[in-house]
Order: sequence, then C-alpha cells, then structure tokens
Amino acid sequence: MSTQLRPTDVKRLNRQWRRRTEGRLSLLVESVTQPYNLGSILRTCATFGVDRLWLTGNSADPDDPKVGKTALGTAAKIAHERVSTTAQALEAARADGYKVVAVELAKGAVPLHAAPLEPDVCLAVGAEDHGCSPALLAGADAITYIPQIGRVGSLNVAVATAIALAEARRREWTTFDGEAEAPVGM
Ligand SMILES: C[S@@+](CC[C@H](N)C(=O)[O-])C[C@H]1O[C@@H](n2cnc3c(N)ncnc32)[C@H](O)[C@@H]1O
Repeated sequence: MSTQLRPTDVKRLNRQWRRRTEGRLSLLVESVTQPYNLGSILRTCATFGVDRLWLTGNSADPDDPKVGKTALGTAAKIAHERVSTTAQALEAARADGYKVVAVELAKGAVPLHAAPLEPDVCLAVGAEDHGCSPALLAGADAITYIPQIGRVGSLNVAVATAIALAEARRREWTTFDGEAEAPVGM
C-alpha cells in the first residue's frame, strides 16, 4: 500500500531531480495583476527551478501580502527584477543568454509539445484580461500555445505557466534512462 512521502523524503527526492537538471529556465511575466495568480506563479517557479524572473507592465508586486497567500514563502527564493517595458525585459533575457518563447494563443504559435524549449529558455506569459502584448509577441523568438479541447477561451495564467514550465523541464528529464523512472523508495 502506498503512503504519502514525509517532508524529509520529499526533500531528498527534490535533491535527486535537482542533480539531474542542468538547463537554465527563466520567466517573463507581463501585466499579471492578480496577486494570487502571481503568488501561484512564484511557487511554480520555485518548484521547477526558474533562475530569473522579469516582471513588466503593471504586474502585481511579489512583496504584496496577498501574493504571499499563494506563494507560501517562495517569493524570496526567486531572483526577480521589475523592468519598465516589455522591450527592456526581452533585452535583459537575451543579454542573459535566453531564447524567449511567448506562451499565448496567437497566430503563428506552435503547440507546446512541438515548441523549441531547449535550454536556455525564457518563457513569457501575459495579462489575465488581454494576454501577451503585441510587443511581446513581435519580440519573442517563438510563440507556443497549449492545445485545448474544451469549450473554453483560455487557461488561467498561473495554470498555463505551470503547464509550460513543466513541459520545459520534462523535455530535459526524458533524456535520462530507467533510474529516473523507478518508483520512489523502491
Ligand atoms: C487568461 S489568458 C489571456 C486571455 C486571452 N488572451 C483572452 O483575451 O481571452 C492569460 C495568459 O495565460 C496564458 N494562456 C492561457 N491559456 C493559454 C493557452 N491555451 N495557450 C497558451 N497560453 C495560454 C497566456 O500567457 C495568456 O496571456
């Protein structure tokens, strides 16, 4: 019978995956205004080892206590930087050696499973109400979308971010052999 891992087991498991992970991953967040969404994004960034986070537009403030409700202490673990414009954020990501892939339902976007997510990649997500700006879509090296089959317009931005970051990591992790696939603790 299976049981949940204890916190110390989770820490050990996380360490094992950290040793198998080399690719640099970063995130550009454009005008995500809802603190709970930003908090959730920060927690996901910490989970998947995002190195750098650029906040632009009128994104919520990582130090806002409401962000902390969903970030659960992870905001301090992510190196984040606020820049005034999306163009500056794109420039900063490129100067740091990242290819920028915008995550958006947009013309010319490729489905996530076919997206160029090889390291070092900076994913970029857009505002809850109007999505990625034309400047972001025009300035990105590639655009990817998450296929949907339900009758919905889009995903919540924090959920879309989590799916895209998980896919970027999954690409690297599938290059490992059986050892990484063995059940935990067996
Ligand atoms: C709620 S959506 C934006 C709303 C949408 N543009 C609209 O006007 O209906 C917020 C952000 O989540 C991400 N997103 C949501 N669903 C997505 C999907 N299926 N594929 C790619 N990105 C998605 C994008 O980054 C988008 O900018």
